[in-house]
Amino acid sequence: MTDRDSHAGDVGDHRRGIEGSLARELGDISVEVAEGLGRFLTENRPAELEQHAKSTPTDIVTQMDSLAESLAREMIARRRPDDGFLGEEGSRSSSASGLVWIVDPIDGTTNYIYGLPMWAVSVAVVHEGKAIAGCVHSPELDMTASAVRGGGAVVRSRGGSAPLSTSACQDIGKALIGTGFGYSPDRRTSQGQLVAELVPLVRDIRRAGAASLDLCWVGAGLLDGYYEEGLHVWDFAAGALIVEEAGGTVTTLDDESVWSAEMSSDEWGTIIAAAPGVHAQLRALVGNAATRTA
Ligand code: IPD
Repeated sequence: MTDRDSHAGDVGDHRRGIEGSLARELGDISVEVAEGLGRFLTENRPAELEQHAKSTPTDIVTQMDSLAESLAREMIARRRPDDGFLGEEGSRSSSASGLVWIVDPIDGTTNYIYGLPMWAVSVAVVHEGKAIAGCVHSPELDMTASAVRGGGAVVRSRGGSAPLSTSACQDIGKALIGTGFGYSPDRRTSQGQLVAELVPLVRDIRRAGAASLDLCWVGAGLLDGYYEEGLHVWDFAAGALIVEEAGGTVTTLDDESVWSAEMSSDEWGTIIAAAPGVHAQLRALVGNAATRTA
């Protein structure tokens, strides 16, 4: 049996879910790829970044986003040649194994361009719409958060490693909530109106500029919750698994699972990720505010 056959066989044998040694191997690969891209992006950052607008003039891609995505694709194809790929910068390949890798080579590109530290590499692997393993790596914050479904979430930082768990917050009025804004002016207007409704009702709001990091911070209990409208799957696939494996809850505004739909490059509705004690309260607040501001 070739290496390709053996990987495809692993998946075929686990139609009810990817478990055990394969899941752990996928977790190791997600960390290896995320940290490899992180090194590439810090060591090879040029003095001048080429900047091109994508969906709007403020949505920028640099040559480093595209080069890092190609590197991710090569690294994954070497280890998992039958798996598919979906990257933020447009790389797509179909899957013969049932597994698809979802990569945001730089989540927080604006921060990367400005030299702010809050950007990260996000790598997840999905089977039947559900993330099985994922890693969010922030080179400048010296943080590698990762999770394998059913195996918990861990963070490595400053030479140590620790399990992640969400906060014990029970009261939305005392919750620190992260959020983010999309790139279209219309969406930003409605997101700004929604934040204005929420800010008097919670402890405070944070907007760091990288959804994957916001999610890791929910997983680590550094934020009590996070919500955002209009994310793409590459922004949240790894981070949402990390929140769930850290004991948190991640749903859509309608309380549906974020894993129930097919993974595509479409924009999502609103995603709510929070510690279990405030998830329902945050969902209600965001839902009511969205109705008032519609
Ligand atoms: C963006 C960041 C930001 C979020 C935006 C995302 P990008 O990702 O995660 O925090 O508010 O919605 O698009 O464009 O930097 O990869």
